Amino acid sequence: MKILYFGAGYVGACSAAISADSGHEVLVYDINQALVKSLSSNDKDVIESKLYEKGLGDLIIRNKQRIKFTDNLADIEQYIDAVEAVFMCLPTPEKDGSGETNLAFYENAAETLAEILAKRNYGAQSQYVLLINKSTVPIEMVNRTKEIMEAAGVKNFSTGSNPEFLVEGKAIEGSIRPERIVVGAWSEKDFAIFRDIYDRFIEAPNVNYIEVNPLEAAASKLLANFMLFNRLANCFDVVGRVCEKFAGLHFENIRKILIADSRIGDWGFYDSLYAGGSCFIKDARSLSYQLKSKGGRPDLVDDCLAANHRQLVDFLNRAKTEIDFNWSDKTVALLGLSFKRDTNDIRNSAAIEAAKFLLAAGVKKIKAYDPVAGNNFLKYFSGPPAQAGQPAADKIILADSETGAMSGAEVLIIAGDWPQFRELGESIMRNLPKGAIVMDGRRMLQQKYQELAQAGYNIIAVGSPLMKAVK
Ligand SMILES: NC(=O)c1ccc[n+]([C@@H]2O[C@H](COP(=O)([O-])OP(=O)(O)OC[C@H]3O[C@@H](n4cnc5c(N)ncnc54)[C@H](O)[C@@H]3O)[C@@H](O)[C@H]2O)c1
Repeated sequence: MKILYFGAGYVGACSAAISADSGHEVLVYDINQALVKSLSSNDKDVIESKLYEKGLGDLIIRNKQRIKFTDNLADIEQYIDAVEAVFMCLPTPEKDGSGETNLAFYENAAETLAEILAKRNYGAQSQYVLLINKSTVPIEMVNRTKEIMEAAGVKNFSTGSNPEFLVEGKAIEGSIRPERIVVGAWSEKDFAIFRDIYDRFIEAPNVNYIEVNPLEAAASKLLANFMLFNRLANCFDVVGRVCEKFAGLHFENIRKILIADSRIGDWGFYDSLYAGGSCFIKDARSLSYQLKSKGGRPDLVDDCLAANHRQLVDFLNRAKTEIDFNWSDKTVALLGLSFKRDTNDIRNSAAIEAAKFLLAAGVKKIKAYDPVAGNNFLKYFSGPPAQAGQPAADKIILADSETGAMSGAEVLIIAGDWPQFRELGESIMRNLPKGAIVMDGRRMLQQKYQELAQAGYNIIAVGSPLMKAVK
């Protein structure tokens, strides 16, 4: 089948690569020339320097006969006549902190697409085409897609929904062996197109292939993300908080007991300074906004958002409230800049929020380190102040290793969960000056807290009371 993708970001590039690997012919259009150039490079390292997803580079290169990336609309015009499905993988960020979705990227792309579709088959529009929302969109977005197409005179089409459930950092692995595929369509004809696209998965063991209408498919994405976000907020704000307030409770022991109950389960059962990333916060805010717009009460959704924010602020404030530490003019090592391990995606990362806090508190220097996300992080803070929030580039220095970040620092903040951070105990004792504060926002060093306190460090960890340095 001939498939067109609009948007070559994390979702578009990964999904398109899987489609090509499934034997379809795929054209991927994106307005970002640099991204298109990298994805077209045939070089794994160049591809993954833009979109760090394990396996993405190899998959694209392996299927290069069937996948092409372009920023040129003329390529779409040449390709469109036999296209049966178009996946919309555009950004759907929040509008002005209101919870409402900013549909400008999506609508611009849909209008561009509509113009091309209206001219297909020399204007006869004889090829039936299914337009599929893969972006996470408001529940009733399919209606808007239809309106845009009809306004441009597009005929012989339908709209559907196929929400993306990929987990960044495991996107390729997860897409090759998905737990579930949810397709939303209005007719048997459209379900048949979806079955063709996902043919290789339908009979595969352990894949839950679910057919519903497009509204249900879109709603399920928002609700699934909320269930996961809610879980994290509970772990931080209730379980973690209890362990911080009552001396003698170890988060890991409490966890062991609770997850032994299969009804509770173990997904997301950890403590962290923040649940960031491009989706959970944005999607919860969108869900809240949409519920309100229909007269519903979004209290629980809003409470989870507040709990997540409270967790971050409380953690960062503990240095001041618990040991009267003054951040002004201090040097801080900040480890883990992406929103989680195995990705270079820094959107809404805890490290960004922590850096904003530190800059506002007047630190002298932030020595930041991440195995893959350093450049994205620096770019964020080198951007125009309106985007970055702070004109801060001169205060942030990228270190080339954990030790490089730590030397000379007065505080170490672990904001990310790269597994190698678990091994940092010895290195801290060698490189971080004695008397410094270790702020562990991921409980990466929980085996070492006693030893580090004995060695002269103050330990502030999520899910533990303060452990004072033994002088
Ligand atoms: N990243 C995730 O983990 C994830 C998971 C599930 C769902 N989603 C949803 O999928 C959607 C895309 O997310 P993403 O992470 O891939 O975003 P992204 O920002 O990485 O990618 C979006 C791409 O769209 C391109 N674009 C913008 N306007 C365009 C236009 N007019 N024409 C063509 N391309 C255009 C951008 O240049 C960018 O490369 C969002 O709705 C997101 O909420 C993301």
